[in-house]
Amino acid sequence: MLSSNKIYFVFNNAQNDNSKKNKIMIGLGTAALGRPQYINVRQEDCDNSNLTEFRKQSFSVIEDAYNAGIRYFDTAPGYGLAEELVLEWLQTKNDKTIEIGTKWGYTYTANFDVNAAVHEVKEHSLAKLNEQWKFSKQLLPYLKVYQIHSATLETGVLENEDVLNELAHLKKEHNLKIGITTTGTNQIEVIKKALKVEIDGEQFFDLFQVTYNFLDQSLQEISEELLSQNKSIVIKEALANGRVFRNENYPHYQKMYATLEDLASKYNVGIDAIALKYGLQTIPNATVLSGASNTNQFSENLKANAFMLSDDDIELLSSFKVSPDFYWTERKQLQWN
Ligand SMILES: NC(=O)c1ccc[n+]([C@@H]2O[C@H](COP(=O)([O-])OP(=O)(O)OC[C@H]3O[C@@H](n4cnc5c(N)ncnc54)[C@H](OP(=O)(O)O)[C@@H]3O)[C@@H](O)[C@H]2O)c1
Repeated sequence: MLSSNKIYFVFNNAQNDNSKKNKIMIGLGTAALGRPQYINVRQEDCDNSNLTEFRKQSFSVIEDAYNAGIRYFDTAPGYGLAEELVLEWLQTKNDKTIEIGTKWGYTYTANFDVNAAVHEVKEHSLAKLNEQWKFSKQLLPYLKVYQIHSATLETGVLENEDVLNELAHLKKEHNLKIGITTTGTNQIEVIKKALKVEIDGEQFFDLFQVTYNFLDQSLQEISEELLSQNKSIVIKEALANGRVFRNENYPHYQKMYATLEDLASKYNVGIDAIALKYGLQTIPNATVLSGASNTNQFSENLKANAFMLSDDDIELLSSFKVSPDFYWTERKQLQWN
């Protein structure tokens, strides 16, 4: 799923290439499956107060995704019970094609309480890496990708020799791809800095999990460079945390909503599939994460696999680009709900 040496989609001639069209480049993200409350635009009330029920439902989303052919699953200790759930699910499988990516650096602190004052705490120290690895290593041998969760310049993690050396040790010992995830206005600056990190004379990071959608297109500035260097790209927040869905609180997106609705009707899919497809088609060979919180959403998300946007559609969607400052200011105002 994550190998970078094949290009599954070539922007201008993909519509004629049936062999590449059906390759599943969608992965399942587990953030909304492990935490009953999540940062997004949630327009419908959703009662996740029964944890046993929530866990059961989340488990079915993972199993449905697997049965639909998904083989890449993204998780993190910061996603509440997600890592535990993935681990429990893996125990029901014996399939070498499954690939798990996890992260370290955030601790979930909300204890499944919607009113929690603090939902997660970030710490990029060697002590946190060691502590979280103790649990995450149970995901081996399915664990293939280990990421610094939300690497920033401020935490100094890309210059922390103790941390980098320990990651290098884990990379070698367990044959892992080491990645970073990025969030915020300076994603590209952080990626550029990460590309300069070398260990034993070799570029260290293999994979970049980046926020990308037609509102924040900043990844396009560096995606070709990443792919030409054989790096893997994973796209997160392809639905802009729910901002792609019509919502009266965002009147400035009226034209975008109308366009998305037209495209959804043209291809007989939902708006979610259009947004996911935009990521799949515009960043060649990237894995795009579905963030579905239930099985219905997942099966709708998967429809992204069943059609191709035209060049004109893509151009139209690309016209909805906003500045990273605008995007992330709006993102910061979203609530845990
Ligand atoms: N590394 C990081 O810092 C980081 C940050 C964010 C995400 N991620 C990863 O990326 C994955 C995806 O990102 P994301 O979940 O934040 O963002 P997203 O894909 O932009 O949004 C996901 C949300 O969209 C809604 N949705 C999905 N399909 C829908 C449908 N068919 N109809 C209506 N609503 C639908 C759901 O909201 P409701 O639940 O409200 O229905 C879902 O929780 C996560 O699971 C996680 O693995 C990583």
